Amino acid sequence: MRGWVVVAFFATGVVGARADDVVRFEGGAAIFKANCAVCHRANGAGNAGLAPPVTVYPPRFVATVDGRRQLALTVLYGMYGDIVVDDRHYNFKMPEFARMDDATLALVLNHVVFDLGQAPPDAKPIDAAEIAVERATVQDGSQVRVNRGIAISGLPQ
Ligand code: HEC
Repeated sequence: MRGWVVVAFFATGVVGARADDVVRFEGGAAIFKANCAVCHRANGAGNAGLAPPVTVYPPRFVATVDGRRQLALTVLYGMYGDIVVDDRHYNFKMPEFARMDDATLALVLNHVVFDLGQAPPDAKPIDAAEIAVERATVQDGSQVRVNRGIAISGLPQ
């Protein structure tokens, strides 16, 4: 992988985008647009009744050990079962993306948490090795939802 490229990019009218509108993970943005935006929309705001916004929990997850695991598990194995984000229920299937390699999954997650969401500025980007660790233990999408509850309970208030 050639790594990520820092590019100053001025998005217009993107709801929920970071205040500085700088896309740090350009490669991740392209992957997100091609594979995720159909459900989560390009700005990550989601679609009521279909897919949750990825701008609410993922940027918080990146700051904790369990949360970082949860991000990797969600893209590797998908997730299903009822979840609540901002008082809205979602209960549709997030597909698994295990066919993508570790570096690609790390890149798309970094786009989600740092570009679409507002992760704490000192949070460490996810690296390929963290994806590789979770790839070693295959999980079911319903288990990923159980893990999500654990990750949320460990978030700082
Ligand atoms: C077919 C629609 C669909 C596609 C495509 C899709 N997702 Fe999802 N995603 C969902 C649904 C539905 C959920 C919630 C699942 C549930 O209710 O358990 C979800 C949940 C998530 C979550 C967890 C959010 C949270 O609050 O825990 C993340 C992160 C995520 N998706 C990232 C991605 C990424 C990255 C991609 C592309 C690589 C992607 N999704 C592609 C439908 C989709």
